Amino acid sequence: MKINKKSISYKIFPRFLGSIDKHNKNIIFQEIIIKKSKKAKVFSKGQRLEYFNFIFKDVIGDQPIDYLEFGVFKGESIKYWSKLNKSPKSRFYGFDTFTGLPEDWKRHPRGTFDTEGNIPKIDDTRVHFIKGLFQETLYDFLRTFSPQSRLVIHLDADLYSSTLFCLAQLDRIFNPGSLILFDEFYDLQNEFSAFYDYIRSHNSKFKIIARIGWSQVAIELQ
Ligand SMILES: C[S@@+](CC[C@H](N)C(=O)[O-])C[C@H]1O[C@@H](n2cnc3c(N)ncnc32)[C@H](O)[C@@H]1O
Repeated sequence: MKINKKSISYKIFPRFLGSIDKHNKNIIFQEIIIKKSKKAKVFSKGQRLEYFNFIFKDVIGDQPIDYLEFGVFKGESIKYWSKLNKSPKSRFYGFDTFTGLPEDWKRHPRGTFDTEGNIPKIDDTRVHFIKGLFQETLYDFLRTFSPQSRLVIHLDADLYSSTLFCLAQLDRIFNPGSLILFDEFYDLQNEFSAFYDYIRSHNSKFKIIARIGWSQVAIELQ
């Protein structure tokens, strides 16, 4: 009689084993990511602004940018970047539901980071907000948007699904030199997994240029 290995395995382990998943991802993290970060500038916890300043001044060289942020919440980061970069040629776009996370994320239930639909008030005509799920707004945005300056993509959506969707869609506008900033890269099952699945499926080359521990990680595409 033919033994159905898959159904036997499912009978023994009927539940998803997150710890095994994390362990496997950690092997990938150690083998791939650590090697790519040998020359990265390392900042310590609490140095978020110094990290942004380094990317802007030393990496971008105070040039105009096209800054796209996915996961805006109250707009702290996009506000800081728009103040940092004063070039009239720079453009800043912030994407968010403004009703919070569309799925549970770790201990945070769906709806966390809800601003009750309110978009941040930033007195700068270069800053634009696009309200709605990325999965419902990004296609249309990319239909008319073409980069005019170096791309800075800030991915702060926490979730695997949201992050992977953005990376796969943005691939068509990425260039060597495009920068991708992650906010929770240490999260092996979410932002890290999304990044790994993206580079593997799109055969993308990259290096890590700066990081704060392993939470905020700045990547330059090659
Ligand atoms: C950690 S918060 C962003 C914090 C912000 N970048 C800052 O520096 O203050 C994560 C945000 O991602 C948004 N988000 C996650 N997945 C999304 C999706 N698929 N579409 C739209 N917004 C999403 C949530 O609504 C939430 O506001």
